[in-house]
Amino acid sequence: MRTINLGLIGFGNVGSAVVRILQEKKPYFCSNIGLQLNLRKICDKNISSKRNVTVNKSLLTRDAAKVINDPQIDILIELMGGIHPAKEYITEALKKGKDVVTANKALLAQEGPELFALAADRRKNIYFEAAVGAGIPIIKALREGLVANKFSSIYGILNGTSNFILSKMSSDNCSFAQGLKEAKLKGFAERDPSLDIEGIDSAHKLILLTYLCFGRLVPLKDIFIEGISRISPSDINYAKELGFQIKLLAIAKKEYDGLEVRVHPTLIPKKHLLSSVGGVFNAIYVSSDLAGEILFYGPGAGQVSAASAVVADVVDLTRDIKAGLFRPTFNLLPDKSIKRLRSIDEFESRYYIRFNAVDKPGVLARISGILGKFGISIASVTQKERRKSRVVPIVMVIHEAKEKELRTALSMIDRLDAIKEKSVAIRIEDV
Ligand code: HSE
Repeated sequence: MRTINLGLIGFGNVGSAVVRILQEKKPYFCSNIGLQLNLRKICDKNISSKRNVTVNKSLLTRDAAKVINDPQIDILIELMGGIHPAKEYITEALKKGKDVVTANKALLAQEGPELFALAADRRKNIYFEAAVGAGIPIIKALREGLVANKFSSIYGILNGTSNFILSKMSSDNCSFAQGLKEAKLKGFAERDPSLDIEGIDSAHKLILLTYLCFGRLVPLKDIFIEGISRISPSDINYAKELGFQIKLLAIAKKEYDGLEVRVHPTLIPKKHLLSSVGGVFNAIYVSSDLAGEILFYGPGAGQVSAASAVVADVVDLTRDIKAGLFRPTFNLLPDKSIKRLRSIDEFESRYYIRFNAVDKPGVLARISGILGKFGISIASVTQKERRKSRVVPIVMVIHEAKEKELRTALSMIDRLDAIKEKSVAIRIEDV
């Protein structure tokens, strides 16, 4: 039985869980699925801290070259994160004939075209199941299980931290800051949590899903991204009363001859399955021509669930290597019916809007007058609080409007004397 040698760079949270799983499951992999895996080197800047796994000290190194240049190593597992030097390490490993497993969504979203092209050129693979939805096997499902399908949309709750915060605000009526503090304590958040709460992490993951479903690697700069930091507990409560939940959704969908790719807080009907996805859970809801509508659901962050995906990739690659197979990561041709990316300005939706206005006669008339000038029609208005000459929230739902027109109208409304804080507008999506 040929032994497949593994080299790991990044012995942090996920890395140490991967090592532990490989140790624990080694006999199972060997006896039940006939694979002999050997972890040959582990590299990290810090090799002295205690981890929840014991390894032979001779495996540890601070020098990444010892992994990349080791001709015995078949698979590089990159779990260090960041763009540089992770990109250089992966590039070198591919050039030296190694396959790669990574969880590095930011790297693949940014440098994917170059890295995937190099991998294809060298007939090597980059597997990245852990980059989206941690242990949810969404990448494998899209690449293999749904390979015969054409997709029309993806709706994803792809960031566990944001979903945890929104759920906490909804269930405990706590502030955004309290929710974030707890998410950080639980270890879900990125080192820089603005990546989570400003929607960037979701966008990185959406880029990978869009590539698999539509054959296009959309650059981050072309994605409309809005985070959740301006959502207040009152928005969540008003939304609930209106029959909705607020979720940070990552959306890619075909609209006429174009593709819309966007990440933003969204009101979705309470009865939709995605509404009940709470806490750190992720869900990906895809619509396809043959298999229909499918929901993938599970813990979207956490060291063990991410490690489960990394080990699954290692096993997959090991089987390929042993069988002498090369299965390109992306074998999809771009969907020819998609001619262009649609800009957010073209986007049309119903909206929930919260104005923070001084409670005095005539304010509502001025707001609705400006909306009317842009042809924007109001579906409902709620003003619950009554605080004469003080600031109160006025909540509106508007009928379908063009994003561009709504933004122009809101910027005029926000300049009114009676408006004391930038208005909040959240898109309503009929998923
Ligand atoms: N910070 C990420 C999240 C971790 O909260 O979803 C998993 O990618």
